[in-house]
Amino acid sequence: MEGLAWDDSCKIQISLMDERNQRLMEIAAKLVELNAVKRKKEEDFEAIGEVLADMMEFARMHFNEEEKLLVGKQYPELNQHRREHKKFIKKMMGFRRLFSEDPGKVTDDAVGYVKEWLPSHIKEEDARYAPFVRVQNYLAECQAMGRRGRS
Ligand SMILES: [Fe+2]
Repeated sequence: MEGLAWDDSCKIQISLMDERNQRLMEIAAKLVELNAVKRKKEEDFEAIGEVLADMMEFARMHFNEEEKLLVGKQYPELNQHRREHKKFIKKMMGFRRLFSEDPGKVTDDAVGYVKEWLPSHIKEEDARYAPFVRVQNYLAECQAMGRRGRS
């Protein structure tokens, strides 16, 4: 399961985002595990369908939350980041639609996509905004301390 194992290299050092990303990686790892079953039966596909639904729901919630944070910090590359999220959701929606018609055909593609997209999004795109958010937090702290110092 190389690539979907959560370790320190996945952390962006913003605790809530790390928590959410870890959960997403766990859902993705579950998907890979379920897909590894050879000669799947109907219930195996059902379980995969449920995990795909979980993944979509959790990703949506987390992306919203992350975008709110980035809006608040006025992250200059927000639009590009948002586009990446949208691309993933759109792709997953497509997989889910096709999955309900012919799960056997779609599962490998969906799992392959998640396996590739998720770790690289976390390690490249999310890791990219983290230092910016930290600097903004630091500046806000300095400002607050300055204000306290003056009063
Ligand atoms: Fe993100």
